[in-house]
Amino acid sequence: MRQQIAAANWKMNLTLSEGEQLVKALVHAGIVLKKHQRVLMGVPFPYLVPLQAAVQRVEGFDLMAQNCAATNNGAYTGEVSATMLKSLGIQWTIIGHSERREYQLEGNAVLAQKADRLLENGLKPVFCCGEPLQIREANTHNGYVETQIRESLFHLDEKAMSHVVIAYEPIWAIGTGKTASTEQAQEMHRYIRSVLEKQYGTTLADTIPVLYGGSVKANNASELFGQPDVDGGLVGGASLVADDFTAIIRSLKA
Ligand code: 13P
Repeated sequence: MRQQIAAANWKMNLTLSEGEQLVKALVHAGIVLKKHQRVLMGVPFPYLVPLQAAVQRVEGFDLMAQNCAATNNGAYTGEVSATMLKSLGIQWTIIGHSERREYQLEGNAVLAQKADRLLENGLKPVFCCGEPLQIREANTHNGYVETQIRESLFHLDEKAMSHVVIAYEPIWAIGTGKTASTEQAQEMHRYIRSVLEKQYGTTLADTIPVLYGGSVKANNASELFGQPDVDGGLVGGASLVADDFTAIIRSLKA
């Protein structure tokens, strides 16, 4: 089975001590992951080191950054590079979240550079894509998401691509409580996989996890994750509550 991933995105929430409490609760929840299951905790940069030992106490749990710079070093005040993350032992990073696309004006081209920096440093990108409401309403969402993936990832060779995780997050479902229906999620995930198949062939496309994000909750995770092409989720709000995120982890395909 493809890798199934429950990924938390804390965004800019929680103090360090609140984060420590949350990790402690997750660690003590008695979660035993199967070999193909993984939990990623996407925490703010300053918490990566202080939380590392606690998170890694559970087999299959790992930390994840929420962004990285498009360059490895230099005069870029306030940026954090893939090289730096590697030096901390971080192996996963979100790139292209819709909030960064919107507020930091990150486009497909700069995300291609970020993917390159991560992969050349041996980190795995969790690449976010997804359409705004007006694109969904105009029924052009497939082409929109395909372009995001094509322009940011399709310069990668097969070996590099095999380290990528894709997260489909329809913007209209993020933080709104309005999740995509299971049919909408499965349809888009199937489409994304067909786009990967055309570019890289069926064998590789079959191994790339495609996560769903956007109002994943404890009470809808099983149905969403049960879809054949949904390989887990990228979770915002519900990942800040230990019981909820625990239930979401337990909803991964067994
Ligand atoms: P919510 O789960 O709060 O809708 O956030 C989704 C998200 O943006 C995860 O990256």
